[in-house]
Amino acid sequence: MRKAAADILGRVLRAQRPLDEELDAEHGHPGVRELDAQDRGLLRALLGTALRHRGQIAAILDHLLDRPIPDKSGAAMDILHIAAAQILFMEVADHAAVSLAVTLADQDRKARTYKGLVNAVLRRIARDAEELRARFNEPWRNTPVWLFAAWQKAYGEERALQTAAMHLHTPNLDLTVKRDPDDWAARLGGRRIAGNSIRLADHAGRVDRLEGFEEGAWWVQDAAAALPARLLGDVTGLRVADLCAAPGGKTAQLAAAGANVTAVDISARRLARLRANLDRLSLGAEIRVGDLRSFEPEAPFDAILLDAPCSATGTIRRHPDVAWSKRPEDIAALTQIQAELLQRVSGWLVPGGTLVYCTCSLQPEEGEAQIAAFLAANPGFARLPVSEDEIGIPGAITADGDLRTLPCLLPSTPPGEPERLGGLDGFFAARLKRL
Ligand SMILES: C[S@@+](CC[C@H](N)C(=O)[O-])C[C@H]1O[C@@H](n2cnc3c(N)ncnc32)[C@H](O)[C@@H]1O
Repeated sequence: MRKAAADILGRVLRAQRPLDEELDAEHGHPGVRELDAQDRGLLRALLGTALRHRGQIAAILDHLLDRPIPDKSGAAMDILHIAAAQILFMEVADHAAVSLAVTLADQDRKARTYKGLVNAVLRRIARDAEELRARFNEPWRNTPVWLFAAWQKAYGEERALQTAAMHLHTPNLDLTVKRDPDDWAARLGGRRIAGNSIRLADHAGRVDRLEGFEEGAWWVQDAAAALPARLLGDVTGLRVADLCAAPGGKTAQLAAAGANVTAVDISARRLARLRANLDRLSLGAEIRVGDLRSFEPEAPFDAILLDAPCSATGTIRRHPDVAWSKRPEDIAALTQIQAELLQRVSGWLVPGGTLVYCTCSLQPEEGEAQIAAFLAANPGFARLPVSEDEIGIPGAITADGDLRTLPCLLPSTPPGEPERLGGLDGFFAARLKRL
């Protein structure tokens, strides 16, 4: 399992492979497919810890190594990171973590030369763990420098630090219910967050065993991800396009709210999940596979929701790999695609219709700046500002009237316990009207 951990860590960091796909029981990394559910859970926890604390671990290794281990040393560095995560941040016997790491280094042709060094460094970490943890524990450490600098610039030092702090914790499970949120919050022992979102505090284990799953009463969706669809208001009987729709959390919201939804996505595989989700929920939508850059709708829509492909830096709490796999040049490339999609789909709206553009990114280039550029180039559109009352989450509206959630926004209950019931994915959404 730990061999798979080091291998997956390398693939996530250097091949930009999504962690969730590597951990998939059926289609994931070969070393994952042979594990039982419990070991897969342990592997997920191990990789999550190594990624959430990656900056601290890197600084500690850097401090203890006289000179960096060269790139051509095989998996040596990944093996060190995995073992250090266990020794420093998990309840694993130190000697077991050290000896396994040495064995793994020995089995890797290129890392073999470094097995003495792996042994020595990990023993030092085990011996001085407390001191090392305390010395390298600044909250900014676990965010890549370029990313942290971007958040500081956009949201200020305090918000950037609070956001980084939230990324150390595994988030709670959020569900969106079709109806009766207070009733379901009580039945599932959760807390109602906003709209139809409820949050479960102490959930562990399989989601499909929770009450209401079989009957299709709810679906899994972060409370922030449930906000953009609500910005379209009353959609009963309207022809609504959900663009970039898969796996369909927002399609389900719109269909449950009574819209006639056309759900479009480029990925047939992801749309199969959308269809399965809608079937379980007994909800309907017209599902179309298509690239929005060439797709042509038969008739204009009364309302459009565009959930554009983005860097997903707002979801680092749930996907700690995103912080370390994304690069500044990825943001630049995505920004161009988003502008192209927004411009194109805006032409599919009836006069007087509403368009919501959203991304789960914390980078202003993919949100605020995108809308500023669109409005400057399209005088036929105006912003319909969002109010805090509409949303029910304090501090989530910008001066311009866009929605901007940050991972540090929703206070925890009881206060001061970020890992219990607090936090939110980072989302941006703007609501525009075609004049
Ligand atoms: C942020 S995800 C959508 C999440 C979804 N709206 C939900 O709430 O469950 C972005 C989606 O955009 C799709 N996508 C990316 N580029 C696209 C394109 N050119 N045309 C259509 N869909 C695209 C991806 O397949 C992906 O499913």
